[in-house]
Amino acid sequence: MDKKVFSGIQPTGEVHVGNYVGAIRNWIKLQDEYESMYCVVDYHSITIPYEAAELPDRVLELGATLMACGLDPEKAILFVQSSVPEHTELTWFLTSITSIGALERMTQFKDKSARQRGNTFAGLMNYPVLQTADIIIYKANLVPVGEDQVQHLELAREITRRFNAMFGDVFPEPQPLLTSGARVMALNDPTAKMSKSVEGSYITITEEPESIRKKIRRAVTDPGPQGGDMGPGVKNLFILLEGFAEPDVVAQFKEDYSNQKLRYADLKNTLAEAIVSYTTPIREKRNELLSRPEELKEILAAGGDKARAQAKETMKEVRERMGFFMPVR
Ligand code: TRP
Repeated sequence: MDKKVFSGIQPTGEVHVGNYVGAIRNWIKLQDEYESMYCVVDYHSITIPYEAAELPDRVLELGATLMACGLDPEKAILFVQSSVPEHTELTWFLTSITSIGALERMTQFKDKSARQRGNTFAGLMNYPVLQTADIIIYKANLVPVGEDQVQHLELAREITRRFNAMFGDVFPEPQPLLTSGARVMALNDPTAKMSKSVEGSYITITEEPESIRKKIRRAVTDPGPQGGDMGPGVKNLFILLEGFAEPDVVAQFKEDYSNQKLRYADLKNTLAEAIVSYTTPIREKRNELLSRPEELKEILAAGGDKARAQAKETMKEVRERMGFFMPVR
């Protein structure tokens, strides 16, 4: 049987160039190779404090951004998690076979709950259970994610194994599909990951040209090429250059670097212009999609219909296996 791909992204803030190079570009490629499903995980986004009034725009904007980046609803199923309420039903079922200890050990839970300063709700702890449900309700095999999600995927596999052992072989064990390529680091602190929650660290995929130029100009480097090892800031600029410029341009700058001839101002100018020209069509396409929100909503809703048909099939099987015999009418 052919493998199926599933991944999700939270509608919290803008998609930055690190997300694009590290994840979304890979999703776009995978839609040509596998049956793929990509989900705007709005249920996940309520596990930390949020504004209900802002959620609809965030969801639509993320949908538009993904499509503008090249995610094609004709090729992949693109949908919003809350159009398939079955995710939550499966989550409830799975909580009955998930160990609290395992949830408490999740790095992301520890980090996020520390940031909530003791005011931690059960939803945050159950976040990885919902993530497991997202994936296995479609019997997906491959989950393109970053390094930071590997622990969640391990838990998903564990929950899946337990379900299959207790109720029969229903679900394949999902595998992470790690994005190859280097991580994009923060522009203002190249020892930390680029993050949408740290101002000055990121450039969004739909940022205005002047702002892109300004942020690249300000990016942290070092006193100058020393030969030998590259400092983290300069290395990060090269990672971005590889992400957005033609290979011959990258090769030329690398050569200049090793000959200690590279001027960082030149590297920065070229990089800024490469990002500007690469992202301009994306920005324009996104604006165009957002100018017709009803159409956009309809595309996402149609993706939701396709996903839901599959989820319903799975839940029929799951209810039966778990002993729920009442018909759902
Ligand atoms: N937790 C993921 C993240 O923060 C988002 C996510 C939710 C996800 N459900 C998923 C990723 C299912 C892959 C598969 O990046």
